[in-house]
Amino acid sequence: MAGKNTKYVCQECGYVSVKWMGRCPECGNWQSFVEEFEIKTAKSKSYSMDDEKSGSPMRLSEINMEREERIKTGIGELDRVLGSGIVRGSVVLVGGSPGIGKSTLLLQIAGTENLLKGNNILYVSGEESFRQIKMRAQRIGVSEEANLKILSENNIEVIKAQVKKEKPDILIIDSIQTVYNPEITSAPGSVSQVRECSGDLIRLSKSRGISTFLVGHITKSGNIAGPKVLEHMVDTVLYFEGERHDSYKILRAVKNRFGSTDEIGIFEMTGDGLKGVDNPSNLFMTDRKNDISGSAVFCGVEGTRPILVEMQALVSYSSFNMPRRMAVGVDYNRMIMLMAVLEKNIGLQVQSQDAYLNVVGGIQINEPASDLAIAIAIASSFRNTPVPADMSIFGEIGLGGEVRGVTHGEMRIAEAARLGFKRCLVPKSNIPKKKMRGGISCIGVDSLKDAFEAIFG
Ligand code: TYD
Ligand code: MG
Repeated sequence: MAGKNTKYVCQECGYVSVKWMGRCPECGNWQSFVEEFEIKTAKSKSYSMDDEKSGSPMRLSEINMEREERIKTGIGELDRVLGSGIVRGSVVLVGGSPGIGKSTLLLQIAGTENLLKGNNILYVSGEESFRQIKMRAQRIGVSEEANLKILSENNIEVIKAQVKKEKPDILIIDSIQTVYNPEITSAPGSVSQVRECSGDLIRLSKSRGISTFLVGHITKSGNIAGPKVLEHMVDTVLYFEGERHDSYKILRAVKNRFGSTDEIGIFEMTGDGLKGVDNPSNLFMTDRKNDISGSAVFCGVEGTRPILVEMQALVSYSSFNMPRRMAVGVDYNRMIMLMAVLEKNIGLQVQSQDAYLNVVGGIQINEPASDLAIAIAIASSFRNTPVPADMSIFGEIGLGGEVRGVTHGEMRIAEAARLGFKRCLVPKSNIPKKKMRGGISCIGVDSLKDAFEAIFG
């Protein structure tokens, strides 16, 4: 019954209104409002990661650092993304499309070193039955002796009671959208349910020092379903990305209170679970044809790790008035800008051309250091002239056509050398002082014109 405490909540963004609306003024979605009843949550409980008296200020010197204990999950790629392991008492939200491997990844934690270290794990699944989970555990080789308990449950009260009883060190909730609080009338997965249940779980983990993983479903637009505030409430937000049909997936931190957000973890889905990929450059460089035009190899850095990726461009005469432009894996606007620079600076008549740009392997490249490789790939396709097969490229391009230095120059060059490249086209300021191993020679350029001369003569 509609009463005083009825509200309408947008299920996409969590916007609250007193009356129903067809379109959300916040996020612009249609038909996204659902009626929800407010429940009176008794007193807003505060929580703290410390048992030390909270509510009173402390000096830095008084704060005990030993508590910042990290648990290594034993899955190298996951530990790296988290910032060398899980922090005790932290809450990690893992989002990703269905079938990407979230449940597999989290179940795998149980199958690793934790067994030896005596960390108890409680895996709560609201989506799968005990038998389904056991089948998966067998498939990925989780030992039956592992310190792992499984609970198939949706009710938050039951989950909380079990957590208090079992006292796990690591709690996994798969997924937060299936957990519900019976006192709230709206359906599981609705904004109120997600907010209340995750609030409860976060309080519980913080006060008991449990490291919690929440699995989150994502919406059509690719964000974690539920209120935006959920992302603010947790310590770390990880996204698991990748094309459904590609066997490898990328784990990326978009928020991390305990580590860097530049790191990515690369996994390959195999017949027996997810395997970390130690040598990502090899992965992105296999199947590369040497003599096709429109391909350039970029020396990238993701976090602390160099990765070589191939940029492919296809530029061809357009039969439309408005030529088509498409960028997969790099920022569309960046590509448009680079085409304008090519036109103005080099005189490449690309305005009447359709242009498609693709980063091989489905990885997303956000570094400006990729500018030079993108520009060269586009020019190579336009001129129908291949880039020399033994050459790799990096550098940022300014609007005036100048090539600017980037960070981690030597690391990029070293990775190219390791993979057998003989030449590297780099910004002048990135030419290494010392001789690089592997007999790679660096060609320093400070303008796009120089770069063109070096490659196309
Ligand atoms: P899953 O972890 O269930 O995905 P999510 O929890 O993100 O929805 O993983 C699902 C996919 O992975 C499924 O299509 C089957 C595949 N898979 C493997 O290829 N190998 C394996 O060892 C496992 C456990 C799953
Ligand atoms: Mg799942």
